[in-house]
Amino acid sequence: MADVVQIARARADEVHTLSRLMQLYLHDFSEFAPFESPHGELGHDGIFAYPHLDAYWSEPNREPLLVHIAGRLAGFVLVNDWSALGRPVDFAIAEFFVARKYRRRGIGTEIARQVIAERPGRWEIAVLADNWPALAFWRRAIPAVHSGPVEIIEGDGERWRGTIFRLTRS
Ligand SMILES: CC(C)(COP(=O)(O)OP(=O)(O)OC[C@H]1O[C@@H](n2cnc3c(N)ncnc32)[C@H](O)[C@@H]1OP(=O)(O)O)[C@@H](O)C(=O)NCCC(=O)NCCS
Repeated sequence: MADVVQIARARADEVHTLSRLMQLYLHDFSEFAPFESPHGELGHDGIFAYPHLDAYWSEPNREPLLVHIAGRLAGFVLVNDWSALGRPVDFAIAEFFVARKYRRRGIGTEIARQVIAERPGRWEIAVLADNWPALAFWRRAIPAVHSGPVEIIEGDGERWRGTIFRLTRS
């Protein structure tokens, strides 16, 4: 698996590629947004808004990563350093997406392994409460890719509503 999953920083001219994948991701996500909440809403232009995407090519602590499986575009990861707990952190998974064709084959786990292994430091992975498949995934994937201690903390409901995993990659 390690040799077929290729992760590379998205170039500036790939912003449109990432933004299209983001629409698929946000549509997946919208399934779990509570009906009465403002989350998961389409704009009148038929697009899910994602305001901070351009910042991934202009701010130093943000990384836009594209994932290819055997040369085929299959997902993306956004890494930043925003802590859902308001604690010092070096890296956080902001968004993480595997296209549907490629799911449940261990690819998400392999992506997590590579992304975390290549970035030693304090990590946070925050999962929104309503996204139960993502929580099931991270509960399974983190121990598979990291052998050290992992803190599992529930967010305060304001800064973050959901579960946060913290670990240090040496
Ligand atoms: C969550 C996601 C990244 C998982 O990717 P994946 O490549 O399917 O993950 P893996 O194949 O490595 O899954 C490893 C394990 O996680 C668990 N898991 C993964 N997806 C799951 C799901 N939909 N429901 C329940 N458990 C799941 C399973 O235990 C799985 O092992 P198994 O297939 O042997 O049962 C993918 O479904 C996705 O992109 N979802 C939409 C976006 C999203 O929610 N991203 C996470 C944001 S925090």
